[in-house]
Amino acid sequence: MSGLDVEAQNRVGSRWLPSVTGRWFEDRDPATEDVIGRFPLSSADDVDAAVDAARDAFSSWRRYPAPRRAEILFRAGELMVARKEELAREITREMGKVLDEARGDVQESIDLAYYFAGEGRRLFGLTTPSESRQKMAYSLRVPVGVVGAICPFNFPLAIPALKILPAIIAGNTVVLKPAGDTPRMATLFAEILEQAGLPPGVVNVVSGRGVEVGRRIVEHPDVALISFTGSKDVGIEITQRAAPTLKKTILELGGKNCIIVLDDADLDLAVRATLWAAFGTSGQRCTSASRIIVQEKIHGPFVDRLARATEALALGPGLDEATDVGPLINRAAVERVQRYVELGRQEGAELLVGGDAPTRPGYYFRPTLFARAEPGMRLVTDEIFGPLTAVMRAGDLEDALRIANDTEYGLSAAIFTESVSGALRAVDDIETGLFYVNAGTTGAEAHLPTGGMKASGNGHREAGVAALDSYTEWRSVYIDYSHRIQRAQIDIEP
Ligand code: UN1
Repeated sequence: MSGLDVEAQNRVGSRWLPSVTGRWFEDRDPATEDVIGRFPLSSADDVDAAVDAARDAFSSWRRYPAPRRAEILFRAGELMVARKEELAREITREMGKVLDEARGDVQESIDLAYYFAGEGRRLFGLTTPSESRQKMAYSLRVPVGVVGAICPFNFPLAIPALKILPAIIAGNTVVLKPAGDTPRMATLFAEILEQAGLPPGVVNVVSGRGVEVGRRIVEHPDVALISFTGSKDVGIEITQRAAPTLKKTILELGGKNCIIVLDDADLDLAVRATLWAAFGTSGQRCTSASRIIVQEKIHGPFVDRLARATEALALGPGLDEATDVGPLINRAAVERVQRYVELGRQEGAELLVGGDAPTRPGYYFRPTLFARAEPGMRLVTDEIFGPLTAVMRAGDLEDALRIANDTEYGLSAAIFTESVSGALRAVDDIETGLFYVNAGTTGAEAHLPTGGMKASGNGHREAGVAALDSYTEWRSVYIDYSHRIQRAQIDIEP
């Protein structure tokens, strides 16, 4: 691929191509609003060409020995290690997160590459006794076919890695649509996989809008599975549009993640962890904490300290090492957070810190803290996806857990307490797919299942061995070497 800085192209089979439409869209640095590249504004025809390439590649890739596929993933990991700093800077430039976090985004991609390379030598099936004599019974995993991956902006490298790597280690091929705000990192990732030795057509990238590119991927009859990370509403639309072709869907949707702080918590730790979970990545992680549920006795001191710490956060460009909180992804995101600030005020919550956007170029919004939030307020029901968090008050652990579960979402939660029994009661009763004790709500690792309950998903998990269940089908095999008819469930041993 040449001239990525100026003009990048779609990856279709062995070729880098502009869109057949001849149209382009601009990729902007959210810290400065400068244009950093042009990407193809693709159409359904571009998707069809990419799906054809993926379907052609599938017939040989599915037969390619998995341990050999693993070597390609491992080399991709090595390439990212060598280029970690450069890739991190690219992420910050394109998406805005502070450099340290961008390094984490690259590291998560490296971890995923090594982890799923390891799976290439496992991909374990099940071998089990049969009900009959001289009959062997086992199950193996088989790939599903062409996977359509539709990605969000917030982890421009790690989320494409989270979707592509388990899909391809299992023998699937992929058509990926990057987020409209971060097409560059997904394109660079496809280039890294190619350099690592991935055969053409195994991973294809088509950039453009959801209504054109995303919709065609979801409706294309030759796409077997959709893996989507994004909002609940788009998840519902994808489910509906995928239904006529009976596609499998892996949906990672919204969150309204909470931190419970009990009276006996280490106050200093709880404040610092809340600050990171709420305002890290400018609150734009699926796992960001936007509800802080604090027990009565500790409520006053906790809120005071959290307010002071929030005020002290440095807002600025992610490339500046002094910055704590970077910009949001685009102008619309700034406007959305502003609307929720107004709504929070109208609903009667108390604005303690922030609440507005500074007047400077870039999509900045001040870290914002509300207190006196009550169940039912939009502030504590809606996923806002910005640097805004709201403190609520709880009587005891039971009350805190009731408030914690009083949401349609169920992605991540955390508790701060020194009580083992309190923490373990919370593990039993919390309705989330991720749970942290004495740590904030973010920080899922590559080798454990990641995903949410309730409206945060549709029962699948990404990462860890659970991802293989999402990207493979089971085939059960019975081999009868008795040379007799042995009717299952009928010819039963006396
Ligand atoms: C996301 O925000 O979409 O747990 C994924 C975390 C990170 C990534 C979360 N490993 O915060």
